[in-house]
Amino acid sequence: MPGAAKRQDNKNNGRPGPKHNIEAARQEFYDRISKRDMAPLWKVMKSVVTKEPVTRVVPHVWKYQDVKSLVMESGGLITAEEAQRRVLILENPAMRGESKATNTLFAGIQMILPGEVAPAHRHVPSAIRFVLDGEGAYTAVEGEKAFMAPGDFVITANWAPHDHGNPSKKPMLWLDVLDFPTVNFFEAGVAAYFDDKMQNTTRGDGDSEAFYASGVLPDGAPTTLNRSPVINYTYARTRPILDRLKKAGDIDKRHGARVHYVNPVNGGPVLPTMSASLALFPKGFKGEKYSATYGTIFVCTEGGGTTTVENAVLEWGVNDVFVVPPWKRYSHNVSNNTVLFSISDRPAQEALGIWREEKNAG
Ligand SMILES: [Fe+2]
Repeated sequence: MPGAAKRQDNKNNGRPGPKHNIEAARQEFYDRISKRDMAPLWKVMKSVVTKEPVTRVVPHVWKYQDVKSLVMESGGLITAEEAQRRVLILENPAMRGESKATNTLFAGIQMILPGEVAPAHRHVPSAIRFVLDGEGAYTAVEGEKAFMAPGDFVITANWAPHDHGNPSKKPMLWLDVLDFPTVNFFEAGVAAYFDDKMQNTTRGDGDSEAFYASGVLPDGAPTTLNRSPVINYTYARTRPILDRLKKAGDIDKRHGARVHYVNPVNGGPVLPTMSASLALFPKGFKGEKYSATYGTIFVCTEGGGTTTVENAVLEWGVNDVFVVPPWKRYSHNVSNNTVLFSISDRPAQEALGIWREEKNAG
């Protein structure tokens, strides 16, 4: 009310009014508590308790053609042994310098040349490998060698000793995904390096797949285990299941004919922090929109297509790696039969009770 304001001004004889006084008093208070390492929640409430998930992650594709030639070039600069792990990090463009593809997951492309060994170590962060190129290199995990081929999905769980070797005649390249951004968020990372470059094998090659990934469990198998005892989920076994799913008509409108890699002991995800899936999208598939609180790293193993993420369109083909940020609406489109591997932090979010999705995302 202009009259009232005027009266107020007159009453104060040109001095600052009560509103100004309270602002000045508040600022003086904020300055004073700041010296005690304190701050008012009411000033930041809406940015720390957000109405919707907020992410810094941006959608992005790493084209394999470019990635492969750069990784091959790195082979002339440093040995696997010298590097411990010869890996080029796939850094989300919005988070350069943080070694992250999403806020919770690391992604990198590792190469091991014929005759090389990547020495044994272990660490609290869990890792997965998804093989892109080459055949006949191995990952040794807890005394068992898993020989790998393209499309194989290999896990090295929390604190499992592991080393890599390549007795084949060709370089092998794979996608590494680790949960160390999650572990480091809790500031709980630990690692140990062994004197011996390679661990002694104590089990037959492929034992874990035979014992635990065949619909049976041997006597004495653990009854509770929060990560899978299977080391290598081979593409040769998993890929044909997708054709059967497709034939059976089990094709999700968003995710295609999809299977999740599971821990055979409890039917849960392979690792407590990361879950992975393999999906077939039939020729001409035009996906409905979907959004969820987990950011996802995808790899195309067959075919190619596009993923629309809000206003961005990602184009991808075989062995390209791409990232979809949390909560952004996305949909896949393919022209020919296409297979996508994907990995996310969904189990960690589910365990914490914070996971949510929108199936009819508009
Ligand atoms: Fe490692």
